[in-house]
Amino acid sequence: MDCPVPWLGTARLVAWVPTAADEPAVWAVHSDPDTYRHVPSARLTRHEDAARLLSTWMDHWDRHGFGYATVRSVDDPTVLGFAGARFAALNGAEVLNLYYRFAPRAWGVGYATEIARAVAQWAAAEHPTVPLIARVATNNPSSVRVAERIGLVRTDLQDRSDEVDHLIFASRPVQEPTPSTLRAAIPPTSQGAWR
Ligand SMILES: CC(C)(COP(=O)(O)OP(=O)(O)OC[C@H]1O[C@@H](n2cnc3c(N)ncnc32)[C@H](O)[C@@H]1OP(=O)(O)O)[C@@H](O)C(=O)NCCC(=O)NCCS
Repeated sequence: MDCPVPWLGTARLVAWVPTAADEPAVWAVHSDPDTYRHVPSARLTRHEDAARLLSTWMDHWDRHGFGYATVRSVDDPTVLGFAGARFAALNGAEVLNLYYRFAPRAWGVGYATEIARAVAQWAAAEHPTVPLIARVATNNPSSVRVAERIGLVRTDLQDRSDEVDHLIFASRPVQEPTPSTLRAAIPPTSQGAWR
């Protein structure tokens, strides 16, 4: 049986290590057209894709001891959304991708800012040399606002692997490595692993 383990806590929220029991919530949030209003093509349309997505998150936890987490209120077991950070490659540079995605009923009360700030503080303490980045669709002002409010700085970087226009916010300069240092440093599976 799954035994949820807390990862980060804030005044109102707890981010839990994800378990298989979170699959219905992963599906609910990632198949909701409202949560993909800005990038409709990325919305999940098949249940098995939610299982696969959750499995990639759990695999990252197994390998690195952190990752994308399941977010609940401190006083209610209902899943509100997901947030966390995981290793990824941006144009060949190793980064930590900041993730936040909440069910629409939980929007507008500062939850994303609150948990994203906790993730950013965790990243600064645990991986101080790795840039924490937020990749935000240009048409997503509330997500831009969250990135700005937690202190990430807008860069002029562009994700060359992406078809959708994104702004890239970062906690520190992103150094694009040479091909040889890239091959040594980044597992191929993390290339472009944003979600
Ligand atoms: C983006 C998202 C995480 C924001 O969640 P949230 O809990 O509502 O965010 P917060 O309440 O912490 O903050 C939102 C900020 O955006 C602002 N905002 C909201 N709508 C806005 C708009 N249309 N234009 C400008 N700012 C806006 C809010 O005023 C708030 O800023 P403030 O605290 O300075 O007033 C949430 O909308 C979501 O999950 N969206 C779908 C998934 C997604 O887009 N994830 C990000 C992918 S990069």
